[in-house]
Amino acid sequence: MKALLLVGGKATRLKPLSITRPKCLFPLAGKPIIDHILEGLSTASVSEAILAVNNLADKIEEHLGPEKYGIKLRYNLENEPLGTGGPIKLAEKHLHDEDFLVLNGDILSFIDYAELMNRHKEEGSIASITLKQVEDPSRYGAVRFGTKDRILEFIEKPERDAPSNWINAGCYALSPEIFEYIPTGRKVSIEREVYPGLAVKEQLYGYRYTGKWIDIGVPSDYLRADKMLSDKPTVGKGTLIGQNTKITDSIIWENTRIGTNTSIQNSVIGSHCTIGNNVKITDAVIADNVRIEDLIIIAKGTKIWPNKHIETNITSPNTEIN
Ligand code: GDD
Ligand code: MG
Repeated sequence: MKALLLVGGKATRLKPLSITRPKCLFPLAGKPIIDHILEGLSTASVSEAILAVNNLADKIEEHLGPEKYGIKLRYNLENEPLGTGGPIKLAEKHLHDEDFLVLNGDILSFIDYAELMNRHKEEGSIASITLKQVEDPSRYGAVRFGTKDRILEFIEKPERDAPSNWINAGCYALSPEIFEYIPTGRKVSIEREVYPGLAVKEQLYGYRYTGKWIDIGVPSDYLRADKMLSDKPTVGKGTLIGQNTKITDSIIWENTRIGTNTSIQNSVIGSHCTIGNNVKITDAVIADNVRIEDLIIIAKGTKIWPNKHIETNITSPNTEIN
C-alpha cells in the first residue's frame, strides 16, 4: 500500500517556531511528528510514501532520507504551494494503479490505516475519510451523515451551524478515480473543491474513529500532543537545565542551555537558545537561538523570533519580538 503525506504547509499559526523548522519535524516525545506518522504507517504495511513538500522541503528530506521504518520515501516538490488537493494530482503518476492513503502531516493519532483501507474497499466510494468527534467543529471540515455513514455534505471550517460535530480527521483512503476530480497545475483545496462535490454524488464515505487524535495547529495543540504521549516533557538532545530550574507543561528543543532557578511554564523553547538564571517564562513561544539574560520576566503570550537578545523584561502580554 502507498501513502501520500501532505507536509508542505507554512504553519503560520505556529510562528515563530515554524520559520526555521517545518511543522512535521517538531519533536514530540523524543521524535518528530512525521516519525510518529511513518511508524504507524509501517505497521499497516505501507511500503512507499510520497512526501508532498514545499515550504522548508530540504529540511524534511535531510531528516528522513530515502527510506525510514522500512518505508521507501519519495519527495514530490511543488514549484508553488498546491494546497491539499494539488499535491495529490501532482503525484498521479506514482499513485494511479491502486487505492492509496493520504494524510495531513500534522496529525497525531492511532488510526488503524489497514482497517480504513479495508472499509474503503468494502464501501466502494471514491473517497473514505476518517472522522473524529470534537467539541468545536469550526476549526475543521465538518460533515452531515446520510444512511450507513455515507456523507451527504462536507463543509470546510463552518463558521456557524456545523452539520454535526464529526469532523475530517485528515486521513483518507482514495481510489484512483479521484484524479478525475482534481484540476491540474494549480492550487486546489480538496476540502473546499473536491469533497463537497463527491458528497453530492454519494461518493464520500465516513470512517468513524474514536481514539486519541490531535491536529497540531497552534502552540497549545502542540503542548497537548506532547502530554498525550508522555508524562515527561520533551527535552531535546544536548539541552542542559540548571539546578532548581522548573520546567512544567513545556517543550524544549535541542542544544538549549537554561540556567538555575529559572521557571518555564506552558511554553515552547526552540533550539540553541541561552536562557539565564532566575528567568520566568509563562505561556510563551521562543524560537531558535534566542538569548535571554538573567532575572528577566517574560509576560504571558510572548512570541520571540529567532536570534533575538532579550536584556529587559517583557511586561505587556502577547508581545511579539520580531
Ligand atoms: N505539499 C503541500 N502543499 N502541503 C500543504 C500545503 C501545500 O500547499 N498546504 C497545506 N499543506 C499541508 C499542511 O502541511 C498540513 O499537513 C496539511 O496539508 C493540512 O493543512 P493545515 O493547514 O494544517 O489544514 P487545517 O488543519 O487547517 O485543516 C485540515 O485538517 C483538519 C484536520 O486536522 C483540513 O483537512 C480539515 O478539513 C481537517 O478537519
Ligand atoms: Mg492542520
